[in-house]
Amino acid sequence: MNNGAVRGPRAIYPGSFDPPTNGHLDVITRAAQIFSELIVAVVVNPQKREPMFTLDEREAMIGDCVRGLPNVKVEHFRGLLADYVKERDADVIIKGLRVVSDFESEMSTALMNRALSDVDTMFLMSDQRYSFVSSSMVKEVFFLGGDVAALVPDPVMRYMSRRREKLRSN
Ligand code: PNS
Repeated sequence: MNNGAVRGPRAIYPGSFDPPTNGHLDVITRAAQIFSELIVAVVVNPQKREPMFTLDEREAMIGDCVRGLPNVKVEHFRGLLADYVKERDADVIIKGLRVVSDFESEMSTALMNRALSDVDTMFLMSDQRYSFVSSSMVKEVFFLGGDVAALVPDPVMRYMSRRREKLRSN
């Protein structure tokens, strides 16, 4: 029961976040300025491939990055995004678009999610500084010795460095 209280729009920003990048954080920061509540929803089992970071690590990395944003919460979900969105009574799904090719798959995904949940997807254009940044590229470059410090938030850099140390000591 909500005692008649009216709440503002609640948005859900879903993703694998393996790891979160500055592109993700930029979308989170901007969406948090638009919506009353933003839930960053980490998918438990990403479809593309086995994640490098555990669910706990991915949630903790985002949690560390959004500490200063009081209307942002970090949660996780398994199964269909549409079911989770309904369960959380969200008003909108947020996605970032980096390049035109992102739009092709995102458009059909948005239509499917709306057909399943009646919830629309709104797209934020990635900041042009991050239009080439993806989690998979960040991982590849970092673990091959490249410098990605400008592409990921500091807490994420620390998690990745710890993982690299661990891999080196094994
Ligand atoms: O960061 P990613 O890997 O691009 O995020 C993809 C994600 C998690 C948003 C997408 O894979 C998803 O929604 N997975 C949940 C399963 C689902 O609902 N699939 C049907 C989408 S049409």
